[in-house]
Amino acid sequence: MEMRFGEKRRPGVVTERQESSGDGSFWCFLAPAFLLLGGCHPGHRQSVVHPASFEASEIARLWWVMFGVLTVAFILVIVFTAWAIFRGREKTPSPPGGGRRFIVGWGIVFPAVVLVGLLFYSLKVSVLMRAPDEGVLVQVTGNMWWWDVRYPELDIITANEIYIPAGEPVLIELRSNDVIHSFWVPNLHGKMDTIPGLVNTFWLNADEPGQWRGQCAEFCGRQHALMAFEVVALPPDEFAQWVEDHQPEPKETTPVAAAEKEPFARGKEAFFRASCHECHAIRGTEARGRAGPDLTHIGSRLTLGAGTIPNNTGNLMGWVVNPQEIKPGNLMPRTYLEPAELRDLVEYLESLE
Ligand code: CUA
Repeated sequence: MEMRFGEKRRPGVVTERQESSGDGSFWCFLAPAFLLLGGCHPGHRQSVVHPASFEASEIARLWWVMFGVLTVAFILVIVFTAWAIFRGREKTPSPPGGGRRFIVGWGIVFPAVVLVGLLFYSLKVSVLMRAPDEGVLVQVTGNMWWWDVRYPELDIITANEIYIPAGEPVLIELRSNDVIHSFWVPNLHGKMDTIPGLVNTFWLNADEPGQWRGQCAEFCGRQHALMAFEVVALPPDEFAQWVEDHQPEPKETTPVAAAEKEPFARGKEAFFRASCHECHAIRGTEARGRAGPDLTHIGSRLTLGAGTIPNNTGNLMGWVVNPQEIKPGNLMPRTYLEPAELRDLVEYLESLE
């Protein structure tokens, strides 16, 4: 009177039918899995399964446990489905009592135990996620589609890249200027939304020096996919040097002061003539716009357009002339400049390291 699952007959039948007609659908299941694996970048710069912090390690372990358990559950479902389809109804009719027991056991009790187990495990992981009491404070504000990055205690403003000291906690305040975005550096931590009108607190704590790619993880409009940022963890002494190099005061040695001198004066003039200062700030100058990224250290920025293109002379020229070609829909309009003016402007911007 018991269920027939597991009796000799089943494997033979399933295997036969799979070999004769099931091949195509088998690969249909596997193809998307391979596509997903294609998302694992060889450099592992944006990868949940290559953790570089305690938090990311716990999340990665949770991911692998879920992957393993749910793979087993998936295979069981497929096997049961195949068995139900191919077992041959006439030859092995299910007795009413046995069928019910099977459904209660495998259809209700088993999934409930598995899901509750995973629920408690994920709760345990979330309890392990403890925000540090202190650390370098970074204010990150999401905009469509870039990240404003400020270090209020260190007097540094930048965009789309976050420099942090390796091995030390970094507290992050997350805000949004427009819609909901989500701050995500998969190698270092889980996701946290940036919500208009709210301040969400978060933290990063990289074990070792390294560089990783962060990405907006909440759909926020046309260029959501191009709302990326870089996180660079430096050894503490190099981080201290970075802080020193990125102070805003126009001292003799700072880039802004150097840029005041020839030959960058023409480029600076072009910057104001083209009204760049309406939207962009360059600390130490009259440019105080807030609509676009702060350009005080644009010359040392790694990328342009929030991770869209590498920051080099050709790309910077292309971006200034027609940012809509590179990242359609972003707030920056075309800039109309004579070729010589463009050269001067870009030279000036590149001097702002
Ligand atoms: Cu911001 Cu998606």
